[in-house]
Amino acid sequence: MGTSVLPSLMKLFLDTANVSEIRTAADWGILDGVTTNPSLVAKEGRDFTEVLREISTIVNGPISAEVVSTTSPEMVAEGRKLAKIHKNIYVKIPMITEGLKATKALSSEGIRVNMTLVFSSLQALLAAKVGAAFVSPFIGRLDDIGQTGMEIIEEIKTIYDNYSFKTEILVASVRHPIHVKEAAMIGADICTVPFNVMEKLPHHSLTDVGLERFLKDWAKLSKKA
Ligand code: E4P
Repeated sequence: MGTSVLPSLMKLFLDTANVSEIRTAADWGILDGVTTNPSLVAKEGRDFTEVLREISTIVNGPISAEVVSTTSPEMVAEGRKLAKIHKNIYVKIPMITEGLKATKALSSEGIRVNMTLVFSSLQALLAAKVGAAFVSPFIGRLDDIGQTGMEIIEEIKTIYDNYSFKTEILVASVRHPIHVKEAAMIGADICTVPFNVMEKLPHHSLTDVGLERFLKDWAKLSKKA
């Protein structure tokens, strides 16, 4: 039986192509990387390469950039180009058979691949077999169609531990803080979250009430002095 290697800490990535959101989360000291996808990049309406270069000046960690072609040779060519933009670029390849071929080719060249649009643990098994560095199961989109997305994270974790696969589990399509907590409880390597979820993570109403009370009591003391 393989020996499972525990991740030292669940990494938190921001799921956005918006540099101002990335800057804000990076300032909080909790940002380990960034994931983008064609929809997120299109939303910003900016040149893709320029956005990736700017992100790489803010975050010193993996930055996922997705290919938009659908045949293996084209994906490989696109992936090589993306990987040249910065040393931290991870090429996102969709989980289709052409994507498996492209992932195998790119990984054998030392280009790190994030296999995306993963919706089952069997797809994740294949991603690991072709040498993907990250696998991105889309939890929220499974929840949206009435399946419990987090169940596949548990399955993938078991499968990867069974065979000591090195592919890291990147929990994607996160919709709320409970997804983040569950990902950490399962022992996922990475959780990528939209900014609106990231900003909810540090907050608790009792923290705010408690701080207000401490400061009020402290103010009374300084009035007495
Ligand atoms: C990340 O890598 C994915 O592209 C992203 O999490 C998808 O999230 P969505 O389902 O909210 O679009």
